[in-house]
Amino acid sequence: MPAAPPAHPSGARPPTLPPDRVPRHVAVVMDGNGRWAAGRGLPRTEGHRAGEEALVEVVAGAIEAQVGWLSVYAFSTENWRRTPAEVRFLMGYSRQVLRARRDLFDSWNVRVRWSGQRRRLWPSVVTELVEAEALTAGNTGLTLTLCVNYGGRAEIADAAARLAAAERPITEESLTADLSTPDVDLFWRTSGEARLSNFLIWQAAYAELVFTGKLWPDVDRRDLWDAIVQYADRDRRYGAA
Ligand code: IPE
Ligand code: IPE
Ligand code: MG
Repeated sequence: MPAAPPAHPSGARPPTLPPDRVPRHVAVVMDGNGRWAAGRGLPRTEGHRAGEEALVEVVAGAIEAQVGWLSVYAFSTENWRRTPAEVRFLMGYSRQVLRARRDLFDSWNVRVRWSGQRRRLWPSVVTELVEAEALTAGNTGLTLTLCVNYGGRAEIADAAARLAAAERPITEESLTADLSTPDVDLFWRTSGEARLSNFLIWQAAYAELVFTGKLWPDVDRRDLWDAIVQYADRDRRYGAA
């Protein structure tokens, strides 16, 4: 039997919204770990460590708010530009978080998926991602897409190449269907930066953007709910008058 995530210690409950005002797909740029650590005189890697709890919180909050899809940006195709020591830490730590948290997510009926490039990614990280996918493949609750070594342009180029190789037409519809996640409704970024940084750029074409000043390790599920409430107040027009 799947369990519900434990309530937030404050007793806070998710916003009560009409179901059609709840974003179906939330994309999260988990940003600000380095600045969180620097503000405490700690190495950047301590910020990444502190971000683990925020991830678990936001997954719990998404389940409670009845979001269907949550996609989190964990490592971009551009993050290889960081120092070898930081890259090494991020690879090792993502493997460790997956191993430590997969049973919890499984118990919450979460279906874990990976989106990203295999190229350059540590094989042990790929193995861990594939194992988490296999473990949770039958789950029917939240779909949690872990975007690891992910780049939006690379994802689109790969999809176009697959369609071309299969001699299928390359259209907006066929490309949309070939990507690993549906259209994004709410695109949420922490740490005050107001940019997409190559995250789900195709899927976010009509997403509502919400930026929060808080650094990722300071976030809990109530911050996600604030973003969802902002989303629910937006008027999505898709070009219509
Ligand atoms: C986000 O935090 C985590 C990753 C990109 C892996 P950052 O590491 O980008 O933190 P800042 O933006 O330097 O504060
Ligand atoms: C985006 O954040 C990538 C992740 C959160 C994994 P960055 O911190 O790498 O993005 P930029 O460099 O500020 O655009
Ligand atoms: Mg950053």
